[in-house]
Amino acid sequence: MANSISVDEIKKIDQSNTLDVLLSFPDMVRKAYDLPRPQLRVPKPENILVIGMGGSAIGGDLLSAWMLEKKGPQVLVNRDYDIPSYIGPKTLVFAVSYSGNTEETLSAYEQARKRGCTIVTVSSGGKLAEMGDKKTHIALPKGLQPRAAVAYMLMPVLGVLQDMGVMSSKGEVDEAVEMLKGLMRDIGPGTQPPANPAMSLAFDFKDTFPMIFCGPFLAPVAKRWRTQLNENAKVLAREDVLPELDHNDLVAWAEDPMAARCTVVLLRDSLEHPRVAKRMGLTRKLGWDRAKVVREVHTKGKGALARLLTALVVGDFASFYLAMLRGADPTPVQVIERLKKELAG
Ligand code: F6R
Repeated sequence: MANSISVDEIKKIDQSNTLDVLLSFPDMVRKAYDLPRPQLRVPKPENILVIGMGGSAIGGDLLSAWMLEKKGPQVLVNRDYDIPSYIGPKTLVFAVSYSGNTEETLSAYEQARKRGCTIVTVSSGGKLAEMGDKKTHIALPKGLQPRAAVAYMLMPVLGVLQDMGVMSSKGEVDEAVEMLKGLMRDIGPGTQPPANPAMSLAFDFKDTFPMIFCGPFLAPVAKRWRTQLNENAKVLAREDVLPELDHNDLVAWAEDPMAARCTVVLLRDSLEHPRVAKRMGLTRKLGWDRAKVVREVHTKGKGALARLLTALVVGDFASFYLAMLRGADPTPVQVIERLKKELAG
């Protein structure tokens, strides 16, 4: 295959029309924010717990980074059967499962209910929709893969918090949608490398080990890149965060010959801490330059939401194009389905 991917090649491999779903991301962000949502008449929460797994949990991570920058209440993401002992009636809980049937999420939801938390359930159906209070349920459209519904995992939650007066998001949504629409032209299949950063990255990633690094604000985005590479492209990948990685991972970058088989992507943010920015340069000089390739992807926009989502969507497209280069249909995740069946049996 030449250093480009044609729409005809994509059509042959992308049997489940993943590309159309990816291209609709800006519209999904808007639609998800405008979904009917419960109006909660409860005092402002002391903290927020997002219960979920995999593609349904990542919205919680994004919320946590967004809220931290905006100096709002603490947001914890619970990827477990059990919830922490300090969670109680002053915690606002979002129990999120696209299918509504994920066993860890249902178990943690049940514990939160017994603790007297205010709970909003978010799902496209399943047991969570049946178990939850209908008045505090957010019904998602059906027919997507959970990870493709990431906008639906985040935006209605922002809406609920906006309505409660916990944190305003209104002004940020327009900016994020506009930025994403602009970005779609650069990363969609109508633009070929080198002008298309996502497609170029797919060629870099091919037959190498993708390594995604960033500062703390973009940590959920780096995780999303890794999990999308895992699930869409079906490849192993890894992510880590500065400054912490300078205290361990750096040693391996300086010494391990495996470095030469890695593609490093640095997710950069306009508001990253100046010391993190300095560390990016130094860590590159002392370690990452031993990788096969080092690339940078920069956030776009001013608001936290635009910056998070513009960095996220480049990874979604890069993982999609890598799937195309590997001849893999990005949507199915058969082994996850098999594991869930065997667990249930
Ligand atoms: C599949 C995916 C998975 C699921 C996870 C939890 O696209 O991304 O990580 O999100 O297995 O299932 P749900 O989201 O239905 O609770």
